Amino acid sequence: MARTPDIRMPDLTGRRALITGGNSGLGFETAKRLLAAGAEVIITSRSAEKGADAVRRLEARRAGPSGASGGSGGSGGSAGSGASGSSGAPGSSGAPGAPGAPASLSDGSAGTAGTDSASTARGAASSGDGFADNDHGAPVGAHDSATSGGSAEYTNASFGASGTTGRGSVRAVPLDLANLGSVRRLADEIVGDGHPLDLLFNNAGVMAVPRRTLTDDGFELQFGTNHLGHFALTGRLLPALMRSDAARVVTMSSIVHWMGRIDFEDLQSENRYSAWGAYGQSKLANLMFAKELARRNASLGWGVLSLAAHPGFSRTNLQSSGPNLGRTKPSRLMKGMNAMPGMTQSAAEGALPELFAATNDEVLGGDYFGPSGLFELTGEPNFAHFARRAENEKQAALLWLRSEELTGVSFPTD
Ligand SMILES: NC(=O)c1ccc[n+]([C@@H]2O[C@H](COP(=O)([O-])OP(=O)(O)OC[C@H]3O[C@@H](n4cnc5c(N)ncnc54)[C@H](OP(=O)(O)O)[C@@H]3O)[C@@H](O)[C@H]2O)c1
Repeated sequence: MARTPDIRMPDLTGRRALITGGNSGLGFETAKRLLAAGAEVIITSRSAEKGADAVRRLEARRAGPSGASGGSGGSGGSAGSGASGSSGAPGSSGAPGAPGAPASLSDGSAGTAGTDSASTARGAASSGDGFADNDHGAPVGAHDSATSGGSAEYTNASFGASGTTGRGSVRAVPLDLANLGSVRRLADEIVGDGHPLDLLFNNAGVMAVPRRTLTDDGFELQFGTNHLGHFALTGRLLPALMRSDAARVVTMSSIVHWMGRIDFEDLQSENRYSAWGAYGQSKLANLMFAKELARRNASLGWGVLSLAAHPGFSRTNLQSSGPNLGRTKPSRLMKGMNAMPGMTQSAAEGALPELFAATNDEVLGGDYFGPSGLFELTGEPNFAHFARRAENEKQAALLWLRSEELTGVSFPTD
């Protein structure tokens, strides 16, 4: 029987992490694993009720050291085969160090769709040896826990939902990425408390919204939420990230980035709107942002490692909240995919690539991780293929400039 994908988590005691969209799906599963590893976790939620409920559910799941008991944090996920192993699951000697054979990255067998030629970040690097060395619970450059912000309380921003789960702690704070004022308020709270932020998961997202819809600031909803909101959040949180001695930003992309083109003439899809086209553009922008952030960090020395990840096809609320705009009935495509064995995985499994990017000590800035199975839909995390245009530096610089103009958030230039 195939082994359930899993990774081993390092000890994250004294580390502070913020997960956008941590009340549901992949973000919720990510929170679970971080908590079990001892981190101080801040999940964001648009609604106080959902945030408080997520904190309650995280509390309720404090079962063991893994915290990965499988299933989706959102009701849309059919629990199925969760990543049930503890961080040291029997037979997982290679995880996360050997998440799939490197050959599978270079022989094109992943066969990710798209007309553009494929790239992988460092296709031959995942020998298993170097990565496996990270499986032993070593802190990821842990800083002095006295400065970790364990007692910080949000006043304006807090939903008042917090708890202590396993060895870590969790609280929910409000964030609507479709409202730049909300982004500013949360970032001000976090930067203002004076503590480091060690891990930022740019995870939240909305997918394939059927009709062109706008954010509060007038941006197309998917580009505005998935890319611009996270761009602004990251820029505003940079001072807190720079306080960490080992900060990482993990930005969630998707296989659907292959469908994406950055339409600089029509970034907000005013002239022509397609639900998947706009989603593809936003997810390509996520990946280009992660890579450009890595380049800027390398040249400007912010000390912030930027990575990207995708979850393959994971059973979460995404398929109902985006295409169906809140309706609970999934689309026919989603129903069909869900019915095919091996084409989807649990939310717990889907969270592994972003967790891997956030915690493995062999990763390099700009690396992109996803499941290593067929079409990168399911499986152990490994380097993911990406469209070559995702690392077009000229376009990335232009996207960065336009994002700064649109959000009014500028990153330092020296
Ligand atoms: N599931 C997959 O197969 C898949 C595949 C590729 C990529 N992804 C990416 O993975 C990420 C997580 O998605 P998921 O699958 O876990 O879906 P999910 O269960 O629907 O979770 C999405 C999260 O994003 C939040 N969100 C949506 N709009 C927001 C906004 N304006 N401001 C703040 N938060 C917002 C949602 O909050 P509410 O609960 O308030 O709606 C929810 O917490 C997304 O970026 C998605 O594009 C998922």
